[in-house]
This record gives sequence, structure tokens and C-alpha cells, in this order.
Amino acid sequence: AVPPATPQYRPAYHFTPAAHWMNDPNGMVYYQGTYHLFFQYYPKGMVWGPMHWGHATSPDMVRWQEQPIALYPDSLGYIFSGSAVVDANNTAGFGKNAMVAIFTHHDPKGEKAGTSTYQHQSLAYSLDGGKTWQKYAQNPVLKNPGIKDFRDPKVSWHAPSKQWVMTLATLDRITFYSSPNLKDWTKLSEFGEKLGAHGGVWECPDLFPLTLNGKTYWVLIVNLNPGGPNSGSATQYFVGQFDGKTFTPLNDKTKWADYGPDEYAGVTWNNTGNRRLFLGWMSNWEYANQVPTSPWRSAMTTPRELGLRQVGSEIYLTSQPAAELRNITGKTTTLQNVTAKEPTDLTARLNSSTDKHRLTLSTNQLASFELVMSNAAGEELVLGYDQAANQYFIDRSKAGKNSFSPKFVGRAVAPRLSTAVGTELTLYFDAASVELFADQGLTVMTSIFFANKPLTAIKLRSAEGITFQQISSTPLTTEAASK
Ligand code: FRU
Repeated sequence: AVPPATPQYRPAYHFTPAAHWMNDPNGMVYYQGTYHLFFQYYPKGMVWGPMHWGHATSPDMVRWQEQPIALYPDSLGYIFSGSAVVDANNTAGFGKNAMVAIFTHHDPKGEKAGTSTYQHQSLAYSLDGGKTWQKYAQNPVLKNPGIKDFRDPKVSWHAPSKQWVMTLATLDRITFYSSPNLKDWTKLSEFGEKLGAHGGVWECPDLFPLTLNGKTYWVLIVNLNPGGPNSGSATQYFVGQFDGKTFTPLNDKTKWADYGPDEYAGVTWNNTGNRRLFLGWMSNWEYANQVPTSPWRSAMTTPRELGLRQVGSEIYLTSQPAAELRNITGKTTTLQNVTAKEPTDLTARLNSSTDKHRLTLSTNQLASFELVMSNAAGEELVLGYDQAANQYFIDRSKAGKNSFSPKFVGRAVAPRLSTAVGTELTLYFDAASVELFADQGLTVMTSIFFANKPLTAIKLRSAEGITFQQISSTPLTTEAASK
């Protein structure tokens, strides 16, 4: 039976399907003015099941319209995660500008029978801008060589070597393949067996260039489950070089695109020119099947624009809320020179009355502080900075429902990577989530929570005392993200 509906947890500006189970974002591609988002979807239940590709479209990655299901399971199996490209030169022969999806066929019968070859890569294409899809008659195009976990192809055009490159998660490493036509694939190299975090299986990779001070670097994203910094699922990345054959990291430091408990399977859009836009699934396999929402389960994160920044001798990925979020902002209220020592209630001064808003705080000091979001029921979500540990944190242990899973960790922490004196936080709150972007996107944390009443009161406290030069509050207003 479907549990009673929870409209209070329906996000305003994060994508959710109207009903049923969702996990990873798939096939994200920008096509003739529209952002396409496909997603792992089980349309018959509220827990993970036989996977389809659901579909949603948006002009700006913020206001989404759910579309009919794009890909259904077939005789080769469930439709697992993958990517989509625009085949501008018709290399595959499906048609000029065909949208081509490259996904994993997962054969549940093969898995049950204990074979190690039940995941293969396959194609589907659309000649009408993503509305209707044909599966390629000769699927699969890349057969499993005997590796149990062999999935989540991310394909993009590698211009310097004029070939398609597939970045594939293969159990405990990444395997790169190339193809002239999306149909015939040749193995290029392997990466990572002895590098990075290996607390679980490597999944949902991505590979793309970004520039820093005029120099091009390649970023390799590798999602990992479990083994994340706050337990469970998380997104690690490597910065290095890719020469069309081999990925070589700058060093072996493990880095995380998002330290919070609730960003997973994050990858980037294809076909967005020089912008690199990222979206993740806003949950964690530790408890995703149990979160108390109905009749849907899970939302996506906000879209984030990626960049690189050097701190000391390290180069880090930065994630900033995409500029398109401006499309849903209301009127900003700004306070100057706010000093907090005793708990200070800012709700009225910030003119704030909603739980769907953006808060920004900046200070040229460095001291511990806590921002407390609360309701009349006494529930509170506490987030802030701990100077002794040099960590940001989000503590949801008193923020509402949490008994649905013992693995729903209360307090999550993330290192502060910036070495600047002073700090800056941008927080995006929606009905059941907060995303924290610190130091212009150098440290990011995403956390979901399920308060029994909206957390609309805003308090600041700092035992040491701290002055914020600026605190701003902006309501985020949109119609429900999916109808
Ligand atoms: C990641 C993942 C992928 C797989 C999909 C199945 O969350 O496990 O590796 O393709 O989900 O739904």
C-alpha cells in the first residue's frame, strides 16, 4: 500500500517525479534549447525495482516538466544508468543530430544465475528530440568481458582525437573505450585500481575538461558506494590529464565533489559548450528506499556549475549553484554587520517566512558559529563552521523524522579547504533539503531532512562571537517542480 501522501516534502525547485521511485540522473544532454534529464525510474513502486529511464525537460534546469518514460526494460534486461549524446555528424548512421543514449543493459536472470556477465552496454536513439526512442537492433554494442560490475557508460566526443570516448565503471576501476561510430568499441586503458577511495563499488563516472588560468585539465568523476566521507554513497574526483587514451592524475589525493550524505551518482550534462553543469541524485543508498516521502521517492540536487581552483599546490573542483537559479529568486533582504554571540533571532529582520529560500553569509573573520533553522515544534537543523576542527557541518539529528533508518546519520562534517581568512556560505533550502556551498564552492555538502513542521525560524549563535559583514535572505519561488 502507498503510505499517506507527504506534500510538505515535495521540493519547489528540485526535480522529483510525480510518483514512484527515482535514483541516478541519466542521459543529461542539452538539445536545441532544452535541458534533458533522464533518470533511473521504477514506475510501479516506491522502492528500487526493474529500471526504466524516466524523462524530464527544462528550459533552465530549475523548472522541470516530467515527460513520458523514455526507455522500458526489454529482453536484454533492465535499463541501468548511462549518458546521451547528440550525434551531429551522424557517425552512428541513425540520422543527423540523432540523440543517442548509451546505457547499461542489466540482465536480472543472469545475475540470479550467478554469471559474471550480466551487464552490457547498449544504444537507443531518438530522431524527434528525445520524445520517442528506438533501441538499436544489434544491442549490446559492448559485451561484458567477465567483470561483474560493468556499467554506467559516460560517452562524449573527444575532439583532439576525433573519436567517441566511453568512461565506464568496471568494479574497482575505470575502463576507457573509444569508438568512431558509437557501435564498435575498442579498449583504451584502465585507471584507478590502486588510487582513490575504494570503500565500495565504483559507479557512474564522468570525464571532461576544465580550464584554470588558461590551462586545460581533465576531471574524472567516480561515484562510490559505499565508502563516502559521511558513510554510504558519495562522489569522488581526480584532476589530471587525458590524452585520448590514458588518464593520468596530478596526484593520489582523494577528493570529494560533495561531502554531505545526500549527493550521489552526480555527473554532468553533455553538449553545453564551455559550461560544465552537474546534477546529482539527492539521496544515499544507505536509506534511499526508506525515506518518508510519498507517493514519490527521491529528488535531484540543484544544478551546479563546475570550475577549478588552486589552493596551495592542490587543484580542486568547485561547484557553484547554476546561474539559472536566479529564475526563481524573490526579493532579497540584506543585513549588514550582524554580530552574534548570544543566540540571535534573525527571522523577522531577514523578512523570512518560508522554508524554501537562499541564505548567504559572509565574514572576514574565522570563528566557530552555528546557524539554527527551527520550528515551533522544537525541531532544529544546525549547520555552520567548527574552527577547532576546521570543518563545516550539518546536523540533522534533531531536525525531524529519522527513525526510518539507523543509517540516517545525524551530523555530517566536511573539511574547510580554503585558506582565506574569513568565510562565505551560500545555502539553498527546499522543503526537505539543504545544500551548503562554502568558500565559492570549494566545500559542498548536501543533506536531506524531514521536519514535522517547516523550519522557518533562523537563529545565529557563536560562543566566541563573530561579525558577519553581510547576511542575505531570498525566498525561492516557483510552482511545484513537477505536476
Ligand atoms: C548507482 C547505480 C548504478 C546503476 C543504477 C541502477 O546508483 O547503482 O551503478 O546503473 O544505480 O539503478
